Amino acid sequence: MSVDAQILHALRTSNSGSISGADLSQKLGISRAAIWSRIEELRELGYDIEASPHQGYRLLSAPDVLHADDLGWRLEENQKIGRDIRVFEQTTSTNDVIEKLARDGVKEGAVVFAEAQTAGRGRLGRTWMSPARKGLWFSVLLRPSLTPQAATQLTVASAAALRNAIESHTGLKAEIKWPNDILISGKKVAGILTELSAELDRIKYILVGVGVDVNLNPSDFPPELRTQATSLKIELGKPIVRVELAAAILRELDREYARILAGEFSAVADEWEKHCTTIGQRLVIHLGDRRICGRAESLGEDGALLLRTDHGHLERIVAGDVRIEK
Ligand code: BTN
Repeated sequence: MSVDAQILHALRTSNSGSISGADLSQKLGISRAAIWSRIEELRELGYDIEASPHQGYRLLSAPDVLHADDLGWRLEENQKIGRDIRVFEQTTSTNDVIEKLARDGVKEGAVVFAEAQTAGRGRLGRTWMSPARKGLWFSVLLRPSLTPQAATQLTVASAAALRNAIESHTGLKAEIKWPNDILISGKKVAGILTELSAELDRIKYILVGVGVDVNLNPSDFPPELRTQATSLKIELGKPIVRVELAAAILRELDREYARILAGEFSAVADEWEKHCTTIGQRLVIHLGDRRICGRAESLGEDGALLLRTDHGHLERIVAGDVRIEK
């Protein structure tokens, strides 16, 4: 943990709410002058830290910025995901940044966040709007020993994790739209873009890109999206501290990933299916030039959607643009 993260941790966890410079200096093993200079740096980042001669330092409020160390200490129990966190003020797409790290041989579990993306992308070649400090835009690097065919297991696991974290952190009822959109009150609040690099029989790496519309206002969405998309702030009626939600999501991702590696996909899939409102619905799916209509019957063993077409065939769908027929 960096000095800044240790100071923030000490301020947040002190029983009386404040901690003296002497105690901090002893705890961290650095001089009081060094503590003072770090406190000044934290203030510049927007942390409101009161200093009183009798009581010492007190954290009055924290800014809504993503701070790698501030996130890292919340994930100390994670096995893999989030042991290496990097936060950028702005990137093209975090999937591009993590891909470069993957090629450079960085270990699995690395996570790249951006406060803003200039070329965020969604599934099926769509653009993903990523305004500064309003959402969580991040990508995770995984290197599972799985065949490329089993990659959909990670899509399912990521969606289950994201849904669980959003619902338990906000108390809002969240559902999954196949394959990995997260909806609240029928509107999309988060999505996942999984990209794969593989050889014939083995995955080299998987990039799981997650976008969550956290503190966007209705006016942040283009008018054509307002009936289909929402944010957690809109649904909850108040803003959310992003670093806390980010930690909740990364903890869930770590847990679900561990289950996949332990060969427990069917338990993950059961959880996914329980919350997937697509199963049982009539769908129209666009797969390139093909249009397939039918009813979503269940989830296949590998995470594919099993669709009973209007012609009576059972089709295995692994990708596509899914519209639910109302
Ligand atoms: C979708 O629902 O279409 C998937 C959206 C995924 C968006 C995230 S934001 C972080 C990461 N970087 C990207 O460019 N895309 C993903």
